[in-house]
Amino acid sequence: MSVYQATASAPVNIACIKYWGKRDTKLILPTNSSLSVTLHQDHLRSTTTSRADPSFESDRLWLNGKEEDIKAGGRMATCIAEMKRLRKEEVEDKQPNEPKLSSYHVHIASFNNFPTAAGLASSASGFAALVSSLAQLYKLPVSPSTLSLIARQGSGSACRSLYGGFVAWEQGTRADGLDSLAVEVAPQSHWPEMHALICVVSDDKKGTSSTSGMQRTVETSTLLQHRIAHVVPKRMAAISAAIKARDFDAFAQITMADSNQFHAVALDTEPPIFYMNDVSRAIIALIVEYNRVSVEKGHGRKAAYTYDAGPNAVIYTLKENVKEIIELIVRYFPQAVGSFKDVFGLFGGVDVAQ
Ligand code: PMV
Repeated sequence: MSVYQATASAPVNIACIKYWGKRDTKLILPTNSSLSVTLHQDHLRSTTTSRADPSFESDRLWLNGKEEDIKAGGRMATCIAEMKRLRKEEVEDKQPNEPKLSSYHVHIASFNNFPTAAGLASSASGFAALVSSLAQLYKLPVSPSTLSLIARQGSGSACRSLYGGFVAWEQGTRADGLDSLAVEVAPQSHWPEMHALICVVSDDKKGTSSTSGMQRTVETSTLLQHRIAHVVPKRMAAISAAIKARDFDAFAQITMADSNQFHAVALDTEPPIFYMNDVSRAIIALIVEYNRVSVEKGHGRKAAYTYDAGPNAVIYTLKENVKEIIELIVRYFPQAVGSFKDVFGLFGGVDVAQ
């Protein structure tokens, strides 16, 4: 008897232009476009195995070894149903001899090798790995952008983890969401010197989930409306140009400005949301000073901090500066040595194994 099983792994991505706010909460359509870098290294990945079998009585999911409920009509159920639909339309309807896997239930086991829900984008790699493993299992002849439409319905930011390198999530204008998808801005090979350092300030679960935080911000923040209309469109164009020109100074300026505005928008929410803590702010001060000295010497900015919905810092820099920045952080935050996961080479696409 045939065994229908596939394993895929997907990396996290960290946004330089932040997604924050949904215009459609069911389809997960964003209020603004966003842009991220996909981190490619062994410490920040989700690995997911999917298996389809006619003897399975229901779809089931295990996350880090613990079974999770697949709620009817929930995000996980939507992603699985959408993948089965694609299997039927793209494979079974066109090639009647292919097994009818879309009618079998699936069992899915997924592991994260980093703290879940600590602002380290675990849902992004998780849903990207889920969609990738089902795409592999179902032998779907579709592009990463098509898969991104489905990963997006699991967790918005997950759509960007279907590509390596520098990735934009175009917000789209359609009500059905078919143009709200991930596109590649530049592959990793375009700017291989780009590196990221992750400073794990805390691996506690975050206080306000991105879902409820975004909803509150959309309902109450006037700054968000200004950001959507007047700030993000210009920044998307400017950072894409900076990436294409490999202009690190411009990339850093825009990345830090957008992190700042995202946290300002969180603060402009009623009641306010605080994702950064004192250590996060001290790291910002250090990077600001490091850049000030570099600009004064005529070298431009050499580092860019960015923070998601949690206190952990991600510092983008070019390879030549990685050692200097790690030394600086270790000098000023000696208590943190050991808990900081210094990171190494970046990037890569979703790599798929079977
Ligand atoms: O996709 P979600 O619901 O985990 O939201 C992610 C939101 C941020 O990480 C703060 C920003 C982003 O663009 O990734």
